[in-house]
Amino acid sequence: MKKILISICCLFCINSYANELFKNADLAVGKALVEKNCVSCHASSYGGDGSEIYKRPFRKVESSQGLINQVRACNTNLNQKWFDDEELDASAYLNKMYYKFEE
Ligand code: HEC
Repeated sequence: MKKILISICCLFCINSYANELFKNADLAVGKALVEKNCVSCHASSYGGDGSEIYKRPFRKVESSQGLINQVRACNTNLNQKWFDDEELDASAYLNKMYYKFEE
């Protein structure tokens, strides 16, 4: 019983561990930004809701910082002129939904 309790507690700790890079990010803002600006293109090349691009076996992004860099690169290409905090919000949202990096 004690072991089970400890395991549950550990799971909780891991889940509630806030990624340092994303600790000030606003997930709701990130979600809105991604849905508005990013999903349709990913969906047109990958089908479905476009989220397959984040789950590809050969996906490019391998860390939180890598994710931020990729979001920034996409934005620069698209000339969307997001602010740094918007890039962070969008990255944090993608991390929470798909990548789940802890660092
Ligand atoms: C005009 C089409 C298009 C738009 C718009 C677009 N992307 Fe992408 N995105 C791509 C393509 C194509 C790739 C795959 C690039 C590759 O494989 O080298 C990609 C890859 C990515 C990846 C990496 C996926 C992986 O492999 O882990 C992320 C993260 C990403 N995009 C985020 C965004 C975000 C955030 C936005 C909105 C600001 C956005 N993209 C808008 C076309 C687009």
